[in-house]
Amino acid sequence: MAKQAFYDLKINSIKRETAGSSRIKFSLPDSHKPGQYISVRFTMKKEVLTRTYSISSEPNKNFIEIGVKHIESGMFSEFLKTKKVEDVVQISNPDGSFVVNSENANRLLLIAAGSGITPIMSILKSTLRKNNKSRITLLYSNKTYADMMYKTEIQDLKDKYLDRLLVFNFFSREIQSTEFLNGRITQDKIAYLRDGNLIDLEDLDQCFICGPIDMTKSLQSYLKDKGVAERKITTELFFVATEKSIGDITQNLEKGESKIELLIDGSKKSFLMSKNDDFIDKAYQNGINVPHSCKNGMCATCRCKVSSGEAKMRKNYSLEEWEIKKGFVFLISLHPGV
Ligand SMILES: Cc1cc2nc3c(=O)[nH]c(=O)nc-3n(C[C@H](O)[C@H](O)[C@H](O)COP(=O)(O)OP(=O)(O)OC[C@H]3O[C@@H](n4cnc5c(N)ncnc54)[C@H](O)[C@@H]3O)c2cc1C
Ligand code: FES
Repeated sequence: MAKQAFYDLKINSIKRETAGSSRIKFSLPDSHKPGQYISVRFTMKKEVLTRTYSISSEPNKNFIEIGVKHIESGMFSEFLKTKKVEDVVQISNPDGSFVVNSENANRLLLIAAGSGITPIMSILKSTLRKNNKSRITLLYSNKTYADMMYKTEIQDLKDKYLDRLLVFNFFSREIQSTEFLNGRITQDKIAYLRDGNLIDLEDLDQCFICGPIDMTKSLQSYLKDKGVAERKITTELFFVATEKSIGDITQNLEKGESKIELLIDGSKKSFLMSKNDDFIDKAYQNGINVPHSCKNGMCATCRCKVSSGEAKMRKNYSLEEWEIKKGFVFLISLHPGV
């Protein structure tokens, strides 16, 4: 596992995108892979916090841009209100595996709900520009037209790449004259597009889904059922409401300590923890900074591989079955033993 480094970056611009979201640009000669995210480290109410934001801009510009949905009383949303152009913010290296698997991926199906459009924008723009054989279908759902982030850019892309980009905008709280476009993106809607030969699942090189967990899991399972290979379906979650805290879940675990050995950037570190300890806190108390961001099993910043011994994850919303079989785990909610 590699160390997580943070850099001081100047805010280039902060602009209101919709009533409930903003776009923020940072000055940085950038080389991320489209679909990746950065982590932002900031202090609010005397607490050092980290949040993850997908990069919506294309790589190799002299800036990176993120799009942030405002969350009522959300720590980062509150932090943003105190920021202005030229202020310095701590940003990590780009990370994440919500990326195009191959340079030859021509046929893409992109599915986004709300702010889930941010990583999709980077994939969309760069693929259309770099690969003139690409054919992309974008399914994008929002509550209303006014809530749509990046609507102008998407319209411009549609105009520019008329024959290579097909866009369907769904609204759940605004009636459109085409009945099919009303409501959220569901299995039935994909089936409708498939039956009408508007998308060809057999011919897909990769499908990206970024939205709420119920939509993501449902569409992922539909695509698998219809024969799309698991490796061609790439998903990302921004938020999962959790009912129980780790403390509640672990109350009944056995006592007893295990020795943990971590290999970070080639250097081996070790500490003792019991099943009820929080892995990241325990490591920190022992002078080890484990890379992490969402703290909820979604971003994969804390992904690593168990090379010996046994360990169990309490939270996982983004590791695929094949990764778990190969021994990959998230450290964020890991406890030793089975
Ligand atoms: C891989 C990854 C990429 C992400 N990319 C983006 C991005 O591009 N744009 C973006 O806006 N966000 C993105 N997020 C979400 C982001 O990291 C934060 O979780 C989010 O902005 C909330 O942070 P906050 O500090 O404002 O709210 P917090 O202080 O963390 O939360 C305040 C309250 O709001 C709830 N809450 C948090 N998020 C949501 C939500 N989305 N919907 C409803 N309730 C919520 C919390 O449970 C809590 O009760 C991403 C997350 C991940 C894991
Ligand atoms: S910190 Fe997000 S999955 Fe581990």
